[in-house]
Amino acid sequence: MTDTIDFTEMYVTHDAFRRDLERLAAAADAGKATGPEVRAGWEAFKDQLLVHHSVEDEWLWPRLAERVKDPEGLALLGDMEAEHARLDPLLASYDEALAAGATDLAVRAKELGAVLGRHLEHEEEEALPLIQSVMTPQDWRAFGRAMARRQGVRGASNWIPWVTEGMPQAERRRFLAKFPAPLRLVNRLLWAPRYRRRNLWAF
Ligand SMILES: [Fe+2]
Repeated sequence: MTDTIDFTEMYVTHDAFRRDLERLAAAADAGKATGPEVRAGWEAFKDQLLVHHSVEDEWLWPRLAERVKDPEGLALLGDMEAEHARLDPLLASYDEALAAGATDLAVRAKELGAVLGRHLEHEEEEALPLIQSVMTPQDWRAFGRAMARRQGVRGASNWIPWVTEGMPQAERRRFLAKFPAPLRLVNRLLWAPRYRRRNLWAF
């Protein structure tokens, strides 16, 4: 099965998005959405989401559109872009509500979580199988490189501790094993401790 694409990075990233929005809702439910660590967690979440969706919109969907021939597949790619576009105003309006000291942050956080959750599920259930059917592992590695270029070293220094946070130890070890040893070392000595010190989402 050497020609099967491994979507691990996609799944761990999606899971981290879900985890963060659950934390946002929990903080807002407790009336703590304006605390500094919760705000920092929210900013970190938005940075990751922006990178993830931009590279999908700019790199992934257009390349898929060149290969997908059937109308259903093309409609799905349109859905993916439309769902991303629908999230942007929700993020902006949460920010506005946060800045204005609104009292309905918990409702907004849950709505955001529901909309993002439906999009991620749609992508996982329909877009990933479509990708699997028209792309090769080599194409997928090129997508990974596009993502890495967009993130840069600074982005990677945030993404790796962010996605591995809360992962069961065996899964984390398996996940990190795919990266070069020097990067694992830098992560262990520098990036992960720095990430932990930020204490994101604490309230
Ligand atoms: Fe995705």
